[in-house]
Amino acid sequence: KADDDQLIIDAGQKQFGATTCSSCGMVYSADNPEDHFQHTQFHQRFLDSIKFVGWKKERVVAEFWDGKILLVMPDDPKYAIKKAEDVRRVADSELGFQQVTLSRPTQAKTYLFINTERMVVGCLVAESIRQAHRVLEQPNQPKDMTKDDFMERHRAWCCDTTPEQALCGISRIWVFSLARRQGVATRMLDTVRSTFMYGSHLTKEEIAFSDPTPDGKLFATKYTNT
Ligand code: ACO
Ligand code: ZN
Repeated sequence: KADDDQLIIDAGQKQFGATTCSSCGMVYSADNPEDHFQHTQFHQRFLDSIKFVGWKKERVVAEFWDGKILLVMPDDPKYAIKKAEDVRRVADSELGFQQVTLSRPTQAKTYLFINTERMVVGCLVAESIRQAHRVLEQPNQPKDMTKDDFMERHRAWCCDTTPEQALCGISRIWVFSLARRQGVATRMLDTVRSTFMYGSHLTKEEIAFSDPTPDGKLFATKYTNT
């Protein structure tokens, strides 16, 4: 009986023919020549985008046994900016973002995790945000918040007189599908905290994730609570 069911399922898949590529993520029908061709093209473009040939000047901000993290700044040489953009585009297409422009491109810092096989397996875009901005946008205040809780928060915000106090907003975080659950995102964020603002180490509370996906929420919840 179990075998019969299995047969039916296999037959169904064969007929329907939909396959998801585990590296580039494209869903295509292997039986359809046109689809097959489109996948081959997309796959190659994807691999080209994450291929890392090495640069004359690399701003290495962290090193590990299985890779390193480079920081790309807005004024860096063209080749660095272009690679950061290519990878960001790959991430955006997976995240389903339509527009590829950043809110403040001149300030964005891009962190790239390069593995030992010379592939960019992680990309994180961090931007400065003002604290006031963050407080105002804080979405879900618990309904059962007591007056004291409210005063506490309100006071904390009002008392913060440091002008231009910037916090760090994570507008993109992406890890290559075959490199997930190996701490790549965790290590990129730890590195952001120690290098984003010169001379200071950001706490986990000073980092905000913009618009997280379901994966992003699971990761962010785990990260902020540990
Ligand atoms: N499901 C459940 N828990 C998760 C998941 C998940 N998909 N991803 C991470 N976690 C939790 C786990 O507790 C994990 O620890 P464990 O592996 O020991 O259990 C912990 O977070 C740390 O995970 P990392 O290995 O550091 O995370 P990873 O390198 O896999 O990257 C990321 C996580 C970036 C969310 C990755 O899954 C990804 O790129 N997803 C697709 C793109 C995406 O959705 N990005 C977030 C968009 S939100 C934004 O950009 C602001
Ligand atoms: Zn593919």
